[in-house]
Amino acid sequence: MTTSNREESRRTFLNRACLALGGVAAAIVGVPIVGYLLTPLIKSSQSAWRDVGAVDNFAVGTTVEVAFDEPSPLPWAGQAAKTAAWLRRTDDGFTAFAVNCTHLGCPVNWLADAKLFLCPCHGGVFYADGKVAGGPPQRPLWTQPVRVRNGRVEILTRPLQVA
Ligand code: FES
Repeated sequence: MTTSNREESRRTFLNRACLALGGVAAAIVGVPIVGYLLTPLIKSSQSAWRDVGAVDNFAVGTTVEVAFDEPSPLPWAGQAAKTAAWLRRTDDGFTAFAVNCTHLGCPVNWLADAKLFLCPCHGGVFYADGKVAGGPPQRPLWTQPVRVRNGRVEILTRPLQVA
């Protein structure tokens, strides 16, 4: 074997070794990313009824924040596994509003004195019944199904909706 052939053989080996290592590195980085992107398409998020308290805890004419667990939190979600809703009680029963603004999803605050929901992000304002009062939101606050069972109020959780 000549020196030229030996160098050619070494170059070919190194090229193949680089390609193989590059492929392994791409797989190590790429497989988790592809899994992360495809998981929501494969695994549907679950809805679940969450107990938020006894009926008597909520006075007629009030709107209060109720906190509960996400139906399918990620194992590493931590505090993000908690979510909330605004629960309004009227003579007609209960209405649960999602805490997230229908503009870009910021959590809205309830101003009891003004009887308005206010979004701190871009100034979105909603009436007590969730309809838009002003600002950039185009849709009323999303509502979540509510039921009363055995004297307890339950809210059907669902994935966050944005625009
Ligand atoms: Fe609420 Fe923009 S996110 S007004």
